[in-house]
Amino acid sequence: MSHPAHITTLLKEGRVFKPSAAFAKAAHVGGRAAWDALRRKAAKDPVRFWEERARELLWAKPWRKALDWKFPFAKWFVGGRLNVSANCLDRHLDGPRANKAALVWEGEPGDQRTLTYRQLHREVCVFANALKRLGVKAGDRVAIYMPMVPEAAVAMLACARLGAPHSVVFAGFSAEALRDRIQDAGAKVVIAADGGWRKGAVVPLKAAVDEAVAQCPAVEKVVILRRTGQGVSMKDGRDVWWHDAVQGASADCPAVGHDSENPLFILYTSGSTGKPKGVLHTTGGYLTHAAYTARLVFDLKETDVFWCTADIGWVTGHSYVVYGPLANGATVFMYEGAPMTPAPDRFWDMIERHGVTVFYTAPTAIRAFVRLGGEHPAKHDLSSLRLLGTVGEPINPEAWLWYHEAIGGGRCPIVDTWWQTETGGIMISPLPGATPTKPGSATVPLPGIEAAVVDREGNPVPKGAGGLLAVRRPWPGMLRSVWGDPERYRSQYFSQIPGCYFTGDGARTDKDGYFWILGRVDDVINVAGHRLSTMEIESALVGHPRVAEAAVVGHPDELKGQGITAFVTMRGGAEPVTSEELKATVTKAIGAIARPDVVRFTESLPKTRSGKIMRRLLRDIASGEKPTGDTTTLEDFAALARLQAAQEE
Ligand code: WT7
Repeated sequence: MSHPAHITTLLKEGRVFKPSAAFAKAAHVGGRAAWDALRRKAAKDPVRFWEERARELLWAKPWRKALDWKFPFAKWFVGGRLNVSANCLDRHLDGPRANKAALVWEGEPGDQRTLTYRQLHREVCVFANALKRLGVKAGDRVAIYMPMVPEAAVAMLACARLGAPHSVVFAGFSAEALRDRIQDAGAKVVIAADGGWRKGAVVPLKAAVDEAVAQCPAVEKVVILRRTGQGVSMKDGRDVWWHDAVQGASADCPAVGHDSENPLFILYTSGSTGKPKGVLHTTGGYLTHAAYTARLVFDLKETDVFWCTADIGWVTGHSYVVYGPLANGATVFMYEGAPMTPAPDRFWDMIERHGVTVFYTAPTAIRAFVRLGGEHPAKHDLSSLRLLGTVGEPINPEAWLWYHEAIGGGRCPIVDTWWQTETGGIMISPLPGATPTKPGSATVPLPGIEAAVVDREGNPVPKGAGGLLAVRRPWPGMLRSVWGDPERYRSQYFSQIPGCYFTGDGARTDKDGYFWILGRVDDVINVAGHRLSTMEIESALVGHPRVAEAAVVGHPDELKGQGITAFVTMRGGAEPVTSEELKATVTKAIGAIARPDVVRFTESLPKTRSGKIMRRLLRDIASGEKPTGDTTTLEDFAALARLQAAQEE
């Protein structure tokens, strides 16, 4: 195991980790020469490069034109038709993959299921036919609010088969958050479960669905999977059990080709305003990007057991639990529950028992494991692992080194993958058999991706300098719009830097051109690898009748990357409330992930003369630092002084 002294020297030396000769030899892209050749080819003619990747998929009808780019709106593989579910399932049924495990699943209580490609195909066809009988047609939106069970993937693939865009809502979100997302997408069917298992307890999902759907008149049908078996009430005419819905449904469901630009899914993410954005992804380009990156970044082979720990409620679960690996005919391991239940070695126990070979998780999880201690993984034989990955936030070198040693046994390359809900798939990442890695850096953009660190005018900044992380050319997996709001799409992503997609992240490159992500530059905080909008949390707080104003900022948190501090002022004459009550208000409005760690009551907030809250100062205070920088625009020095004084008490 590593210790801090080792890390300091490592950073000073700028040590790099090269893939072993053995790993490189067996890899899809092995060694410098192969990597350079791929990068040269992609740089020379990126559109042609992506066409070659698209040809690796199964198309019902070829495209007429690879890219139609009318800034900022892109269409990829125009005129082409394909079926995503046929790409993930049907095309594997012709050869030996038919009877290979597609999904190996374990529930939190320890129950297990394995579905071969043939079995998964059958379940998807049957369920797609059931959805058809319930009135689902191509273009209809379907909301999915499910625990991590095989049926969650079945539901997604069935929607894809029918060309009905799904909107998966993370099952940790509250009823109110679910309601907003159902309404915004205009979903007419909701697929959910009675509940799911988490930390030994049942999460009552059906109750949340009932509360949400009561305010969604457009919802016609609710399909409920029986997972936990707890008592739920079923509404006549609206609710139907999954097992009843599939009764007598045929296993024959032809996979018709859908237009390459048909919406495949909507996924809501936080932006710098209070309202979540429905990020829209379409069919041909998205799958091309997800399949290509899954194959090369995770070096997927026929014999791999790939475990991405993300929930299907996040984009990582879409691209690297379902679509990317299944398009490659890989075996996916899926787990329902919490990482430390019933014991702190649950993950390592499952890796050993299922022979997981490639493991992909978030730095926040790794930090939690570091804290628990190396004795838990040490109890298990983790020699099946050959490759590790991280995503969601920058990984600190200490956690990287621990991951490398305690989990990877010092022999597994680590791919630190930078991407976003909006990018659809991985953008900046090592190729494990070729790219030398440096702990804490996602290395360089993948072949075909033109990401750069630029200034406000879009000019590349010199190596070593910081700037804005932008993408200078369209790529197949890019979001196509914000659902129902193309203007927001344009202003959010394409108005800050001329001609570029702006990621919202700051970054710098080093002397070798490696990218180091510096975090968000907008009003978005990254808590445990998930983006949360400070404005959204603020609007939840001011939804409380006694709160006048709220300002939410991030503070450094050893485990979660960032924690949430809320500064709150009360309405004049209002009865005091406890911070617990305000925290609960946020949990109810959004979900437990957005619950503030700290609530600080204050008489006033530091503002500029024009009335803008000076978050920079609040961030300093929340981080336990003396507010620094320019305060010449501050209206009321007394407000700041009072907050500081409260801190020093
Ligand atoms: C934001 C995107 C798409 C994966 C899950 C998060 C941060 C993501 C990294 C990384 C440093 C990272 C960025 C990005 N981020 N991966 N490897 N290194 N930062 O998806 O919720 O859309 O958040 O997560 O700030 O903009 P998301």
